[in-house]
Amino acid sequence: MRNIHLATVPADGIGPEVIEASQRVLKALAEVDGGIKFEFREFDWGAQRYLRDKEMMPADGIRQLTSGGFDGILLGPVGSPKVPDHVTLWGLLLPIRQQLQQYVNLRPLRLLPGVDGPLKGRTPADIDMICFRENSEGEYSGVGGRLHQGTDHEVAVQSIVFTRSVTERLMRFAFEWVGSHGRKGVTNVTKSNSMQHNMVFWDDIFKEVGADYPSVKQDHQLVDSMAVRMVAQPQTIDTFVASNLFGDILTDLGAALAGSLGLAPSANINPERKFPSLFQAIHGSAFDIAGKNVANPIASIWSAQLMLDFVGEKELSTRLMNAIETVVREREVRTPDLGGKNTTQEMTAAICAELQK
Ligand code: IPM
Ligand code: MN
Repeated sequence: MRNIHLATVPADGIGPEVIEASQRVLKALAEVDGGIKFEFREFDWGAQRYLRDKEMMPADGIRQLTSGGFDGILLGPVGSPKVPDHVTLWGLLLPIRQQLQQYVNLRPLRLLPGVDGPLKGRTPADIDMICFRENSEGEYSGVGGRLHQGTDHEVAVQSIVFTRSVTERLMRFAFEWVGSHGRKGVTNVTKSNSMQHNMVFWDDIFKEVGADYPSVKQDHQLVDSMAVRMVAQPQTIDTFVASNLFGDILTDLGAALAGSLGLAPSANINPERKFPSLFQAIHGSAFDIAGKNVANPIASIWSAQLMLDFVGEKELSTRLMNAIETVVREREVRTPDLGGKNTTQEMTAAICAELQK
């Protein structure tokens, strides 16, 4: 019997509903499999806690995650209308990504069969990409400051930081993943026409690492024209690597192409496995629909599927992906974001039932 220990941080807005959905599905999977067990430890971190204690997580929160023997972390969305976003994000999600060295953010962007995406005439075969987003530095390094505040010469500086070791390892991870998951190509996305220092550095590293993978198709696309290519020729994109901010923006675009933000998962990965990796839907806390049992749980459940893949449970992860795809393809149960009237719990139950078949 394999025991998988997971930290869960439901966090804010629709977080508790979609994290509960993931847990239900994992439990259903364990029931049908018999050889695996999931143990959850929940942390009450997030905006509620901030409003009470003036901190998103306890001072030793990172240590609790790194010393708890966790195989992974399931995190809900972070953010609340009652607290400035930079406070909530720099109090929880961003320090975790940095300090747990989760420098790869893997984001599948797929039009699932049964979903009507916004692009006319496009089929699931056309929209099937993976983004490997740098996730611990770049535009999100957090290095900078403001001075002369309140004067007319007030100034703000925010530095973009690229580290050779992180950039190299991100790219190596992407190339290796492409090889191990039957993919064919990697597109390198930068803006090295205008950013002649850091992004040319990034391009150089892409070429260096890419030279070790001659069988993988490689090309380069400037980020602005990448936005066009994703819409106009999505079928030409297999996987891509991008900096933190570019990856953030392009994956929201990709989620829109997939038909709903409710269908976009992510894995924040520490490839060395020195620290636990974190699995989280791309979507936000959606306070407008929080507590109403209408959020689409699939992005969160699919993130748990990425966790299964990462911990080496390939068979279970395939089974879960098949169940998600079947439920979406059959169009019988769907939440409002997909044009249906079903609840979060009904959608979750449908996936569990599919697993039990
Ligand atoms: C994401 C989110 C975060 C990001 C925000 C909430 C800081 O948009 O995971 O895509 O920009 O990385
Ligand atoms: Mn984002």
